[in-house]
Amino acid sequence: MFFSRNNKANLKLPNLVQLVQKLAHVHNNLVCCCAFHSDLFKQTNDHLFFSETVVPFLSRPALPALLLPSGLHLFSSNAICQSDFFKPNAIRSIVINRCFVLFVQPALLEALHMAVLQGKGSEVSKVLQGPLNYLDQSLSKGNMPYLTGVQYQNLLFSCCILYFPSVKSWFDRVAAMHSCQSAAQKVLQGKGLQGMKSYMQRQPAPRSSHCRDTQPCNSNPAEGERAVSEEEMEAAVLTWSKDLNAGPLAADRQHPILPQEGKRNILVTSALPYVNNVPHLGNIIGCVLSADVFSRYGRLRGWNLLFVCGTDEYGTATENKAREEGLTPQQICDKYHAVHSSIYKWFQIDFDFFGRTTTEKQTEIAQNIFWRLHEHGFLVEDTVEQLRCENCQRFLADRFVEGTCPHCSYPEARGDQCDKCGRLINAVELREPQCKVCRQTPVIRSSKHLFLDLPKLENQLEQWLEKSTSTGDWTVNAKQITRSWLRDGLKPRCITRDLQWGTPVPHPDFKEKVFYVWFDAPIGYLSITANYTDKWEKWWKNPQQVELYNFMAKDNVPFHSVVFPCSLLGAQDNYTLVSHLVATEYLNYEDTKFSKSRGVGVFGDMAKDTGIPSDVWRFYLLYVRPEGQDSAFSWADMALKNNSELLNNLGNFINRAGMFVTKFFEGCVPAMELQQEDKKLLAVVGWELQQYIQLMDKVKIRDALKHILNISRHGNQYIQVNEPWKKIKGGDTERQRAGTVTGVSVNIACLLSVMLFPYMPSVSHTIRDQLNAPQSCINTMLQGSGSFVCTLRAGHRIGTVSPLFQKLEVDQIEALKKRFGGQQLRALPALSLPLCQLLLLLLEVAAVNGVDPEKAKQLAQAVAEQGDKVRALKAQKAEKAVITAEVAKLLDLKKQLAAAEGKSPEPAPQKSKKK
Ligand code: 2FM
Ligand code: ZN
Repeated sequence: MFFSRNNKANLKLPNLVQLVQKLAHVHNNLVCCCAFHSDLFKQTNDHLFFSETVVPFLSRPALPALLLPSGLHLFSSNAICQSDFFKPNAIRSIVINRCFVLFVQPALLEALHMAVLQGKGSEVSKVLQGPLNYLDQSLSKGNMPYLTGVQYQNLLFSCCILYFPSVKSWFDRVAAMHSCQSAAQKVLQGKGLQGMKSYMQRQPAPRSSHCRDTQPCNSNPAEGERAVSEEEMEAAVLTWSKDLNAGPLAADRQHPILPQEGKRNILVTSALPYVNNVPHLGNIIGCVLSADVFSRYGRLRGWNLLFVCGTDEYGTATENKAREEGLTPQQICDKYHAVHSSIYKWFQIDFDFFGRTTTEKQTEIAQNIFWRLHEHGFLVEDTVEQLRCENCQRFLADRFVEGTCPHCSYPEARGDQCDKCGRLINAVELREPQCKVCRQTPVIRSSKHLFLDLPKLENQLEQWLEKSTSTGDWTVNAKQITRSWLRDGLKPRCITRDLQWGTPVPHPDFKEKVFYVWFDAPIGYLSITANYTDKWEKWWKNPQQVELYNFMAKDNVPFHSVVFPCSLLGAQDNYTLVSHLVATEYLNYEDTKFSKSRGVGVFGDMAKDTGIPSDVWRFYLLYVRPEGQDSAFSWADMALKNNSELLNNLGNFINRAGMFVTKFFEGCVPAMELQQEDKKLLAVVGWELQQYIQLMDKVKIRDALKHILNISRHGNQYIQVNEPWKKIKGGDTERQRAGTVTGVSVNIACLLSVMLFPYMPSVSHTIRDQLNAPQSCINTMLQGSGSFVCTLRAGHRIGTVSPLFQKLEVDQIEALKKRFGGQQLRALPALSLPLCQLLLLLLEVAAVNGVDPEKAKQLAQAVAEQGDKVRALKAQKAEKAVITAEVAKLLDLKKQLAAAEGKSPEPAPQKSKKK
């Protein structure tokens, strides 16, 4: 979307506003697409501003727009009108584009979303067919009479549908244009449809097309344009005048928190981070931040909730980090435990307890579970061949050995895989293996290990899973990953390791060994709770009374849904198993991955050095939370969301509401006499609150946040339409009206402070301080569906109001982007064509290239599963021929995947030895 800046026609703002208002009136709705002279950007007065802003009824969250006093937004989908804006034909084109924007573009966005992010390229026709048919039919029946006669060659979309009844021929024509081709080239950067991925990831998921099947949907316009019934209004007014329960405060906590009879007892964990690194933004949003938001919310709901986490300190990764930093493993654990703690403190993660796994309780509980598994016959012994470095005196984990690939002779193959030919390798098969630490040649040693007999536990596991996944809130990815693990049948899993840094295996035959970190780590949840309270079993051996929520990124799912539950089921000690497994997808950094070694991305310890407040970080990370699909952190987008959503929308509303009380009513909330319009607003706000609660109850954290922003948008429109700053200067009735609008607004601000609490705790406190809000206001969500109550009654004196947010400037953002970007970052060029044209191009390009995202997704899954299969066969030391056959299948799948992704296949194995 862009504005034509090269046109020198001199538009007069008042004329423009008049014209657009007329149009909006005629077409009983709100949107007009037009292009403005760039000078317009600079024109502002009290009630008009022109900036990147949020246009509530559009699927794209923000774009350059002109906000009219009436709350209407003007924006451009293309530079269509230019100097001829005021001519009749231009008005027609406005209408055409209105139809396009309201109706066709959302469908196209949805299609683009499906094709790029969901891998459902072949299904886009389902979404597009309705709108395109409608357009075609409307054109042929002539029931859009205004679609005739426009003659501008530059009105790509409009003129093409005028001259070509079928959209296909329109597409052919547009696609042949040089400008389209070069735009597609620029945007896709040779990556096919996937070139749009990071751009799409930053856009909110489009709304589904349920009401766009046959005609444009006026019954489902902007959020907030919902029809409100008389009953809803009456109910909202009744609620408004209730008293909030002044009883015990939702946020009061007394430690130790223990399950209570008759309460909803919720135990929240977030995956325990390793101590070998500093967490990046993706780690933070996936685990601790998501769990924190949910916990804060749960406390507001009055649930009896305990939130525990801690560092996962044992294992090879720690030993290795210790070697790297010249410290002992214990010193590394101490150091990184402190690093993690301080980062989470800065991000305001409100754990009830943040512990660690290297404790006596861990040993005690892990060994107890081990013995119970042993007693019940769920452990089996087997011998494994491993590489051992006699110089370093240790067995080498696969990634600590390097050698020549037995398949392609690549000299730097790792112990688990060859980077050249892509084949999986069993470390003992490497030719000329070397210890990566000291470069000595390791020897092959047989070693006896213990395996958790998963096949024997499989039935029990499946029964439990059936129940837990059907009654609990498991994310879709968690269910899918679990299902795919079970599909091929479970294999025994080795739970011991030849290491020093771990929980000792208590069995006399294995006394040199420690537990494998993934057997040990989840037991950390229990031992950390045990370090918090001696009565830990009230949480962990109490499945009847306790609901357990596990938060994590998707790579941790199988250990939480299969392996750990099997350990607990096999121990037969009435353990509490997970009821709700909440897994995020991945967060990318701009259009690449976070990488410590390449210096790409923002890591937890750097966030505070940016000068951007912790609450703003939280807000943005939660706004782009990879909920349901991968998403991306982007500096430009963060600035945009800060400046549009926080500053212009939320902050602007709350600040204005408070300022009106201060300036016009000497700091005291005025008397309110509710009229129809106010009642309607109460109902709308109440509805948004209910949506928020329903979503939060289901842990849809990203989706729920949008309802907070909807409320302040409604509030801004309400203020804008009612103009209390004018009415305060009028007669008694008008002054009374200004009072009501101010009183209602400041109460909405108070409600917002509570809804914001899980997301932006400091801002939430600041607002409540500024409003001098009574403590009881945080009880607004205690009742079932929440209630919007007048908590700041007439006469209530508020505190000192000041702005909540600061603008993020372009220079500042550019500098930060440079600082954290490694050498990787390229900005996606501005999309200078309407998105629909682009989409059609993209689909065409994809078809030509044979790129098939859906197939790619299936293949990626198949590759992952086949990889697991090969690894399992190797772990079981299956026959070589069997393994080779499975590896061949894996390679073939990888080739197919590369083709479906439009990438060139892996390089062919080298025949001759590379010198
Ligand atoms: O992936 C990780 O960072 C692991 N340390 C997570 C462990 S989660 C739980 F099992 F402790
Ligand atoms: Zn060595």
